[in-house]
Amino acid sequence: MNLRKHLIAGNWKMNGTLGSINEILKIDKLCSDYEVDIALCVPNTIISKANETISHNNLIIGAQNCHYKESGAYTGDVSAKMLKDAGAKIIIAGHSERRQIYKETNEIVNKKATSIINSDLQTIICIGETEEEKNMGLTKKIVCTQLENSMPSISDENNTVVAYEPIWAIGTGKIPSLKEIEVVHKVLRSLISEIKGIETANKMKILYGGSVKPNNAKDIFDIDDVDGALVGGASLKSEDFMDIINIC
Ligand code: PGA
Repeated sequence: MNLRKHLIAGNWKMNGTLGSINEILKIDKLCSDYEVDIALCVPNTIISKANETISHNNLIIGAQNCHYKESGAYTGDVSAKMLKDAGAKIIIAGHSERRQIYKETNEIVNKKATSIINSDLQTIICIGETEEEKNMGLTKKIVCTQLENSMPSISDENNTVVAYEPIWAIGTGKIPSLKEIEVVHKVLRSLISEIKGIETANKMKILYGGSVKPNNAKDIFDIDDVDGALVGGASLKSEDFMDIINIC
């Protein structure tokens, strides 16, 4: 058991409307008894309402993406500053769906994370390998290159959380072996130590994400360098999400 306070962050992706605020309220009511940090990264359209409704004990509302500029002629985009204005406290940067579908590079993710931190918000920087890269034995190389280039120089343990999410594990029900998760998290922590120093590395949270469910959460959370989870599908139902929080 490590001493870093764990974080369970839900990523609702493009799911949820104002009618889903009830699910958030259920989580809010139940989560005040827990000694874990909890975040729900919901669609931008409900951030404000969700934020007004929760009690702010240990649940925060977050967003899933932002533009790296503060304002300007970027039709349809929103900035970190705007999301903060709506009530977001944390914003995901570089989720693999953004990297793959919207071709976001490490450089763009770095700029996004920088603008999130400069807006006095926390960021969750996501990294992870494809199945093909895994099969070629490239996992460590890929995730280290991603982290080195996506993590801004201003990142520290208070403003940045790292999430290791193997792309092939997202939404598939498949997860790496526990040993594989352990090895990758150890490698990431020692890279953070090289870049930021050992003190920051010991305090920075590294989450695991990709098919985390109530039935595998315990084994994953038992791994020493795992400091919580980024949860997609299982965060949409308050019962499943609360089960995972309970286990943590
Ligand atoms: P999943 O998604 O839990 O549904 O696999 C995780 C994520 O995309 O962050």
